[in-house]
Parts: sequence; structure tokens; C-alpha cells
Amino acid sequence: MKILSIETSCDDTGITIMEVKGGAKNASFKVLANGIISQNKTHAPHGGVFPALAKRDHIKNLPILLDKMLKKAKLGVRQDLTQKSIDLIAVTSGPGLEPCLWTGIVFAQELSKKWNVPVVPVNHMEGHILSVFGKSKGGFIVPIKPAKGRASFPMISLLASGGNTQLVLIKDWGKYEIVGETLDDAAGEAYDKVARMMGLPYPGGPWVSRYAEKGRANEGRKLLKSIAQAGEPSIAIRQQADMRGFQKLTAEITLPRPMLYSKNLDFSFSGLKTAVLYLIKKIGPLDEEKKIQIAMEFENAVVETLIYKTNKAMEKYGASTLIVAGGVSANKHLRKMMRKFFKKEKQVLFPEKKISTDNALMIGIAGYLQYIKNNKKTIDPKKIKANGKMRLC
Ligand code: KG4
Repeated sequence: MKILSIETSCDDTGITIMEVKGGAKNASFKVLANGIISQNKTHAPHGGVFPALAKRDHIKNLPILLDKMLKKAKLGVRQDLTQKSIDLIAVTSGPGLEPCLWTGIVFAQELSKKWNVPVVPVNHMEGHILSVFGKSKGGFIVPIKPAKGRASFPMISLLASGGNTQLVLIKDWGKYEIVGETLDDAAGEAYDKVARMMGLPYPGGPWVSRYAEKGRANEGRKLLKSIAQAGEPSIAIRQQADMRGFQKLTAEITLPRPMLYSKNLDFSFSGLKTAVLYLIKKIGPLDEEKKIQIAMEFENAVVETLIYKTNKAMEKYGASTLIVAGGVSANKHLRKMMRKFFKKEKQVLFPEKKISTDNALMIGIAGYLQYIKNNKKTIDPKKIKANGKMRLC
């Protein structure tokens, strides 16, 4: 069957068309067309996503992108499409910015009426989890009933994006429990805000990461001296981290590792962001070198915290498979350190870089899995509603 998926939860308009087969043990997907229109140019002058402008852009982009994707998938034009061309529509219904979510939902409802095809509403975060099995081109398999050992349940997923940072216990596909989450800012949000403080362009995550990587390349030559001060709250993790190959820290530029010693699996990135603000105030105007040092120390703090809490969750729930997804999972240092930390003892899955950030491909995967789980029963498309605060459960 052919599935068309739509993603408009934030500032990326995504549409994917895939041919899908199977469902008992494995589902096999073939990508026929996969496209995204980024709104970075629209939001860059505002230093963050402007919901009214995002909504306006989605409305403008959706029909343009659909025509392009239909053509690419060799399915003809929208007006000519018969029921046979597309069999199912999957659309993100939450969480995200509600005005943006509605644009995708209304578009899906209109297409459903026109083509007489069912619609499945998809949780964006479930999409991110399943994105680790996707490929932006060609074919791929999603294990519906994973074999023992590889990608077996229970799994833990660290979801780190611009809007969410969560640790999710996966008991089965569709059966989730949020076991830890950020109490304030999401990790990606902290990246974006820190980038702004440092005068770096929007979206800031990749920029902070680029600066941090520059610093790592310089490491050993001049920047870094080991100074993990005795008695500092994060000493244990730093020592453990150093053993695993984390960067050493400079004396002047040190930042806290938030909530490492809290008993739960929650995160907090707002204090870290404020610490960067005070640090910038203290050290005055930032030259390139200072930006590099701050970016590196900030990134180390985020990555250490994410790894520490993720490891706690893996141990607590006896998980041997870890799924790291969401926009921040594109981060080079996070990928490297996660792999190093968990070595071969655990299976660590990341999405392809291209589908780490928001995309419709992952929505198609999650939509199809849900369709199979519900024995191909779907709800009345008119009843689908946007839910900005939708939770995984
Ligand atoms: O998943 P996503 O595309 O959108 C949301 O659902 O939020 O994630 C976007 C977030 C932004 O905050 C962006 O700065 C961050 O992911 N991000 C990164 C990197 N690439 C994107 N953060 C750190 N390093 C990166 N390479």
C-alpha cells in the first residue's frame, strides 16, 4: 500500500510518500518521495520560531510540496489522483505548536475527503523514536517483533529536540512510559538560546556544535587543562567521563552539570543556560576563542548530563537497546560519546543525520505501525484534533 505522511508540528513542512508491505514480524518500506521545506529563513530574524509566521508558511508550502512529492513518486498530479494512488494518510497531531499542527491536520482531512482514504493521527515523539529504523532514500525494514538480542524490549529512548527532552521506557511499539523529562528548557532549546547569547545564527544547535568541534580540534595544543576541582558536585561524573574519553575542562570556563545528583531521571537545562549568561557577563566581549571555549564546555555539560541520566535509566529498567532521537541526536559529540560510553555492551541506535530533525518520513513509519496495531481500523478524520501537549503513553 502507499502511505502519504505529513509533518507540520513546528517550523519544517514535510511530506513523504512510501510503499509499505508486511506487518506481522517486520514492515518493509520503500521511499518514493521524501521532502522538507525548512522555514529557517523566515524565523532567523526573530531568533526563534514565530508561530503565526510558521503557520502561514505551512499553508503556503503544503500544496507546493505535495505536488512536488506526487511528481517525484510518479503518481501524477493532485487533481487526477484516484483512491488507488494513495491508500493511507498519516499526519502529526501533537505535540507541537497547535496553529502549525492544525495546518497539517486540515490538509490531511481535505485530501482524505477528496481521495476517500483513511487518516491516522501520529504522535510526533513516537515518530522520532521510530526514525532510527528509517532511511531517507531507498528501502528499509522496521522490526515489528524484534528478535531477542537486537533491538529487543524493553528499550530506553532519549528524545532530545527543541521542544522536548525525555527518557522513554519502550515496552512495545505503542506502549510507552515517560520515566524522565526536562523540568524547564529542552536540550535543543538551551542550545538555541546559548547560541543567541553568543551571537550565533538561528537555529543555534548546529552552530554551537560547530564551534565546540573547532575547540576539540584544537584540544591539547592550547585550550584545555585538566582541572576537575575536588569537591565540585560533578567531580564523579567528570572522573568517570575522563576515563571514557570526555574532554578536559579549562579553569576559567566551567559550567555546572545540572541535576546529576538528583535521585530521579529528570533534566533541567535552564540553570545551565543562565550559567552561560553569567559567564558571558563575567568574561566580557567574546572573541572567537572564547566562543569556542564556551561552546565546548556547554556541549560537554549537556552531553555528560544526557549520558549520565540515560545510563541510569538503562540500568534501572534493564534495557540493552538505546534509541537516541530528536534534533539534538544530530550532534556529533553526543553520538561519539554515547557510542563510547555504552561501547558494545549496549545497542545504541541513532537516526540517519538527515532524518534526525523533524521530517514526515518518521510520521509515515509511526502511522503505518499504528494502522497495523489497530487492525487497520481508523477514526473519522473529522475527529482528529491538534494537541500541542500530547504525551506518549
Ligand atoms: O527535532 P527537531 O527538528 O524539532 C523539534 O521537534 O523541536 O529539533 C530541533 C532542535 C533545535 O533546537 C536545534 O538547535 C537542535 O535540534 N539541533 C542540534 C543539532 N542539530 C539540530 N543541537 C545540537 N547539535 C546539532 N548538531
